[in-house]
Amino acid sequence: MLNALKAVGEETRLRILALFQTGELTVTELVTILRQSQPRVSRHLRLLCEAGLLERYREGTWIFYRLAAGGPEGDLARAIITYIPFSEQVLQHDAERLREVKSERQGRATQYFKENAENWDRIRSLYVAEEKVEQILLEVTADMEINDFLDVGTGTGRILEVFADRIGRGTGIDLSREMLAVARVNLEKANLHNCQVRQGDMYDLALASESMDLVLIHQVLHFADDPSAAIKESARLLRTGGRVIVVDFAPHKLEYLREEHAHRRLGFKNTEIAGWFMANGLESHPVIELEGTELDLSIWVGTKN
Ligand SMILES: C[S@@+](CC[C@H](N)C(=O)[O-])C[C@H]1O[C@@H](n2cnc3c(N)ncnc32)[C@H](O)[C@@H]1O
Repeated sequence: MLNALKAVGEETRLRILALFQTGELTVTELVTILRQSQPRVSRHLRLLCEAGLLERYREGTWIFYRLAAGGPEGDLARAIITYIPFSEQVLQHDAERLREVKSERQGRATQYFKENAENWDRIRSLYVAEEKVEQILLEVTADMEINDFLDVGTGTGRILEVFADRIGRGTGIDLSREMLAVARVNLEKANLHNCQVRQGDMYDLALASESMDLVLIHQVLHFADDPSAAIKESARLLRTGGRVIVVDFAPHKLEYLREEHAHRRLGFKNTEIAGWFMANGLESHPVIELEGTELDLSIWVGTKN
């Protein structure tokens, strides 16, 4: 505890802790926000990690930092954050620059989907054998009665099409207007009158709690700033016995996907998803792992108890 308190007992390190109220940040992003040199910021981060308040993980050439998941130091970090006077001017400036960093990041992804909306159905099939994934998704939900279905980051609405005759009502949410325009045409063409799409954000879905039986997050999480917050928001919507299904890449090393396809995360470890499920009252099912030519895919299913 003394180590942890000593580590945050310094202005810049307390400012850094304040920035981790939500999400994960890279060193480069912290350098931009704090306007200090990379070696200085790295040193502060090292001290906060050594004290157990933050955790660090490397993924390809990027190093991410976030609040320690649990344990006394992680709890202490969260407790300290609740006392931070966010109205102080220096912290307000940091928060403003954090918003700029996030909006620039989001802007890059939005631009990517804007440019690729028309081609998305071709691009998505480059990664994995889709029919197989779709068949498994139907199999792992075959025992469910699905009245209300939500597809988070629906893109061109493909997942709604796959589930349409298994569900009462389907809703697809996406940030990109261009993607939604393609989805509307697809749903119309397929005559799917029980499905609709609308613009929304996976971090704030603006839907009632406990209103969904199944929430799918298919190939969306690797674009997320804060994947744990996206899972939390999806779990909030589930009725008891409802399921969240995340389909995404297993950890990989294809760094160019960041530059060329706006990916933020290079896949997810099973333990990472299981931790987020557990933190949000979801019981993990055994993971389904599918080998691809270049990229492996995982299907993580969690049931709300
Ligand atoms: C790779 S596409 C996947 C689309 C679809 N689920 C599929 O598998 O074909 C990712 C989608 O997530 C959407 N997206 C990214 N960030 C989002 C956010 N914060 N809220 C809602 N949708 C988001 C993008 O606009 C894009 O349509």
